[in-house]
Amino acid sequence: MNDRFTAPGKIILFGEHAVVYGKPAIAIPVSGMRASAWSETGENGLTINALDLNEKFSITDENNQFSVLAQSILAKTNQNEPNLTINLSSKLPQGSGMGSSAATSTAVCRALSGYLGVNLAENEISELVFDAEKVVHGTPSGIDNTVVAYEMPVYFIKGEKPETFEPGKKFFLVIGDTGIEASTKETVSNVRDNWKKEPGLMDGYFDEIERITNQGKIAIEKGNEKIVGEMMDKNHELLNSIGVGHDKLEKLIDIAKDTDALGAKLTGGGGGGNMVALAKDKRNQKKIQDAITEAGYRAYQTSFGEE
Ligand code: PMV
Repeated sequence: MNDRFTAPGKIILFGEHAVVYGKPAIAIPVSGMRASAWSETGENGLTINALDLNEKFSITDENNQFSVLAQSILAKTNQNEPNLTINLSSKLPQGSGMGSSAATSTAVCRALSGYLGVNLAENEISELVFDAEKVVHGTPSGIDNTVVAYEMPVYFIKGEKPETFEPGKKFFLVIGDTGIEASTKETVSNVRDNWKKEPGLMDGYFDEIERITNQGKIAIEKGNEKIVGEMMDKNHELLNSIGVGHDKLEKLIDIAKDTDALGAKLTGGGGGGNMVALAKDKRNQKKIQDAITEAGYRAYQTSFGEE
């Protein structure tokens, strides 16, 4: 009891949008921004107490990610509903492409299985969370639950088994928030319209993104940050070409590049939302974060891989 169980957020580093058309994408965990869950004795069955939302969910609530999750865990482990409250708190902004729903589900899954004394493997957690994700996203690709449950970079192709991989070094990133709310559903649908109008041209862009994603993966594994940065720049240009750019994204990317970032791109759906910049080192990471903050935007530091 009272042990904290946590799970990280995520961002997409390469291949967003192209992934919808069968191309690979790479996502990485955002380990510094986490959801955490801890349990305490309850009275009437199982309650999930989402502190940030100021809402409580029971196992019988319909169309709720946590109810679906809890039911699946109890069924899988052959256990009765316990009298338990699981408190949940998250540092991840919702609906920002940072994997908030997968992170909260994963933290709750770990807290409940921990209380029940069952040891679930990462792939089992990932599958349970995937079922809960369907309640939130309809047809999730599966990249979020994988990267969040394994807390490792993931190379992902729709419909194939996701592959986790090891970075060759530690990479320092800054995430900058344009403050422009953008709906991923809408940008995905705009890309679809563009694709219908000019399929040959758009397929060409997606092929190019695929090459960049594959080169990006090799560069991450080799720890070659210069190439990773170059690939991020190229991926961003192509995202602009397919029509998901935004002036504010360009502004934040310019700030990062003027502060010596090795590369920068939009991340996730685009049309606003977040950008991500690759810093040269820890000092440069702080400088980029400060520059974005001084320009009046929110910025977060994150890193992945071992030093
Ligand atoms: O905004 P996010 O991180 O949920 O990413 C959306 C990624 C897209 O490729 C644009 C859509 C998708 O379903 O993969």
